[in-house]
Amino acid sequence: MKQRVAAIVLAAGKGTRMQSKVHKQFLLLDGKPLLWYSLQAFEQSQVQDVILVTGEESVEYCQKEVVERFDFQKVRAVTAGGKERYHSVYAGLNVLLKECRYGAEDFVMIHDGARPFADADLIERIRHEVQIYGACVAGMPSKDTIKISDEEGFAVQTPKRQYVWTIQTPQAFSYSLIKGAYDKMMEREDCQQGITDDAMVVERMTDKKVRLTEGSYRNIKVTTPEDMVTAEAFLAEKRRTEAEIGKK
Ligand code: CTP
Ligand code: MG
Repeated sequence: MKQRVAAIVLAAGKGTRMQSKVHKQFLLLDGKPLLWYSLQAFEQSQVQDVILVTGEESVEYCQKEVVERFDFQKVRAVTAGGKERYHSVYAGLNVLLKECRYGAEDFVMIHDGARPFADADLIERIRHEVQIYGACVAGMPSKDTIKISDEEGFAVQTPKRQYVWTIQTPQAFSYSLIKGAYDKMMEREDCQQGITDDAMVVERMTDKKVRLTEGSYRNIKVTTPEDMVTAEAFLAEKRRTEAEIGKK
């Protein structure tokens, strides 16, 4: 059977750091919910199946006001996430098995719905590299010097900058690798401490090495209010570029 690639788009967070009335994934950017941008990117990519994970209270809203309203054809299910990001990812992985029968041959990309600028080139790079390495995550070399502090807030270590990356999504894996790693982790509460991304689950629960794939400095996660200002500027720039190309 042909290898399939799915995307799990995460939109079940509460957006605490954004301090907005509506959860940040539903904030409007140029008239469309933030979440629309990643769904649109996957719709136009080689990814075949999309699972949208949102809060239990937003499942119906997403189905009607996002998926049906904007006619996203690849969304196979809108499902409820959980308390932590990893609970939401696990819900998505289980739906992929149940609804789409994903298995050992297949691949899955996990993407934050709060990252509106994962473009076609990036998704294609990730798709290409996951098929080679079995596990890869988007990231960029850190522009800033990074310091590790002690508990009192004093610098104790400065890692060599050439080895420091800031990590983004999509994060992509062979389906059986990531499902196996998550199954194991979900059984062990002591392994769940401090999990902030999917690569960490693979690093903690398996021997598999995760490849760092070049992301983009534009592929920001909208986290705090000023990120919306940046997102608006990036979008305006994108529109200008598209208009220029259209003129040629
Ligand atoms: N996410 C999720 N389920 C959770 C927590 C987060 O699906 N229980 C999603 C968010 O919706 C977001 C992505 O994971 O698209 C990255 O998480 P983050 O930026 O931390 O979003 P929030 O958790 O919503 O924000 P905050 O941490 O500020 O509360
Ligand atoms: Mg969070």
